[in-house]
Amino acid sequence: MESIQREDPAKEANPQGTRIGSFLALLAKCETLRELERVLAPMIVIGLLKDRPAIRKVVKFCASRYIENSQYASSLLRYLIDPHPFLWNTLIRSFEQTHKPRDAIKLYKEMLCSCVCPDKFTFPFVLKACASDRALKEGEQIHCRVAKSPLNIDLFVQGSSIFMYASCGRMESAKAVFDEMLYRNLISWNMMIDGYVKNGDIGAALKVFDAMPARDLFSWNLMIDGLSKDHQIEFAKHLFDKMPERDVITWNSMIDGYAKCGNMKVAKELFDQVPFKDDVTWGIMINGYANSNQIGLAHCLFEKMPYKNLITWNCLLGGYAKCCDVRETRQLFNSMPFRNLTSWNTMLDAYAKHGKMELAFRLFNLMPLKDVVSWNILIDGHNKIGNVQLAQELFDIMPYRDVVSWNLMLSGYKENGLLKKAVDLFFHMHLLGEKPDCFTLAIVLSTIADLGLIVQGRWVHAYAERSKFSLDGNIGVSLIDMYSKCGYVDLALNIFDNIQLRNIDHWNAMISGLAMHGYGHNAVSLFEGMTKSTVKPDDITFIGVLSACSHAGLVNEGYQYFKLMSMKYGIIPKIQHYGCMVDLLGRAGFLEAAVRIVDSMPMAPNDVVWRALLGASRSHGNLKITEHAARQLINMVPHDSSSFVLLSNMYVYKGQFKSASDVWKIMKENGVSKNPGLSYIELNGFLHEFSAGDTSHPQMAQIYLILKCMIPALILAGHVPGVKQTLLDAAE
Ligand SMILES: *[C@@H]1O[C@H](CO)[C@@H](O)[C@H](O)[C@H]1NC(C)=O
Repeated sequence: MESIQREDPAKEANPQGTRIGSFLALLAKCETLRELERVLAPMIVIGLLKDRPAIRKVVKFCASRYIENSQYASSLLRYLIDPHPFLWNTLIRSFEQTHKPRDAIKLYKEMLCSCVCPDKFTFPFVLKACASDRALKEGEQIHCRVAKSPLNIDLFVQGSSIFMYASCGRMESAKAVFDEMLYRNLISWNMMIDGYVKNGDIGAALKVFDAMPARDLFSWNLMIDGLSKDHQIEFAKHLFDKMPERDVITWNSMIDGYAKCGNMKVAKELFDQVPFKDDVTWGIMINGYANSNQIGLAHCLFEKMPYKNLITWNCLLGGYAKCCDVRETRQLFNSMPFRNLTSWNTMLDAYAKHGKMELAFRLFNLMPLKDVVSWNILIDGHNKIGNVQLAQELFDIMPYRDVVSWNLMLSGYKENGLLKKAVDLFFHMHLLGEKPDCFTLAIVLSTIADLGLIVQGRWVHAYAERSKFSLDGNIGVSLIDMYSKCGYVDLALNIFDNIQLRNIDHWNAMISGLAMHGYGHNAVSLFEGMTKSTVKPDDITFIGVLSACSHAGLVNEGYQYFKLMSMKYGIIPKIQHYGCMVDLLGRAGFLEAAVRIVDSMPMAPNDVVWRALLGASRSHGNLKITEHAARQLINMVPHDSSSFVLLSNMYVYKGQFKSASDVWKIMKENGVSKNPGLSYIELNGFLHEFSAGDTSHPQMAQIYLILKCMIPALILAGHVPGVKQTLLDAAE
């Protein structure tokens, strides 16, 4: 209530004001819609709300301080029965400014339903809300309405439409609005430049810039910053030299551009010329030196600063944390004249990054203040060194968790192989009413994909849609991946088809999803479609394409693509690509060609390559190559049982039992034992985990009983256990 009173100091002298003041106090205590209605009803009855300033006050109050959703606010407006758009606008703007764009849009819709006509203030507010919520569909509808109204020529409204389209990544539509403008002001020109820059189309931004009848400092700065962020630093410099006037922002963009390109020499030259340096200028240089691993120069520069404050101290400390060992970082930390939480967290992070969790823990206990970031660093550090247990204990006792904490714990479980725990934690999070973000969903979807839990996967998909997450970004990638890995390629394709702005990750996920299930032809034609789009294939794309060819036996095509990747796209084949080629040729029986690929590799073949060759030579019954590949593998990963098993399998198959038992002997001598078979089965949405020889499942007795009953039935049905497998077990 304090701020209300401050707003209106004359209130005590005004009896009407006092009564409104006490109503506002009552309103502030309302927690439900019903209570709100109860307070408002008498206000309306006594006619308090007839007074315009009073109405304005109540609505403003509700919108900004108390009313949490537009449901309340709109019910308030319904009470007021005000056909004038003024109050609606006030509310819509309040929602927009308090970062509740969804509510602003919803209120706008209610406004239309209440037959209130939006005016030239309504549209800019709600279009801005659409922009910050990336609500393209609604934005388009609103723009349609604008286009049919006389407001179509209002500069402010047109500018807002451009801004909305630019923020939603629709520069073509923004341009259409811009092109239709009868009069354009500097703001609309700048907005177009800004839009193109933010959407990564520097060429188009330049065209607008060149066509401008007049430019202000802001236009120049937008262009310079865009070029420098796009690594076109020479071009940026060209413009910079032509500029009529420059401010510190211009200089900072240029210096930052050179620093980001790693050209610290020119950055320093410019830096020396800056007439008025601010904290950011110094910070850019210190960061630049630190990022190019020249911490000595960073420190020298730091010493030269006329005044040092916490910002620059923290900058230098961050540089030390990046370039130096923990001892030197700690020394700098100790020498700091002042520190705040950020400094402590930087130090803590330095320990955690180097896996020095004991030192981190000690520092943590010394901290005068801790925030959620400090806890998160500690949790992440423990997860990274594999100490999930401790991470979990910290997670359980931390006083407050943000979504990052949940994400760290989820990925900690996932990275340490505790997949089921990760999925459980996600659902626990949901039960507690915590809001996940797109990273949470991406992590849990990829865990679900690894486990093949389609029921949970569908649930997360529905949840993401319900909660209005955009499926166009990372979540789309994860969904495609999840449906593919769970075996529902058609659903993955469905997601893929509905994505409006496909990026390279979407294409890659879909191509490898198709490849994984042997839809080689579809994967290849999808790739052909991709080459016709604006997205350029990368090395991961080709892994997908080559493995698609391999699974579908498209030997010639695979060979062509392998050549195409370096010749047309300039992608140097990595070891994975060679692995795919070995697999491709090997599977198709061209074992000699596969060996030639292995011999021609510019890098040493890794275990994956040998395993591909081993698998192929074994299934084509080529003992010589099998032996060769297996021996390489045994040297490379002597503790992995699979190569021993494959080789001995081969000997058994060829009837060379002596050699087979020799292999087993070497294996025993090396202390290698067969990895326990592990399997997960999902049943009615519950995950059951089994490993060979495991008796921990609560329903073990029943399961074995059923298995026993099944064996005679299987034999009756003509199932014969694999001979090779049985022989192997006997040898064991
Ligand atoms: C610490 O100080 C820096 C520089 O003034 C500031 O940017 C940062 O937000 C501060 N950190 C905290 C947690 O207050």
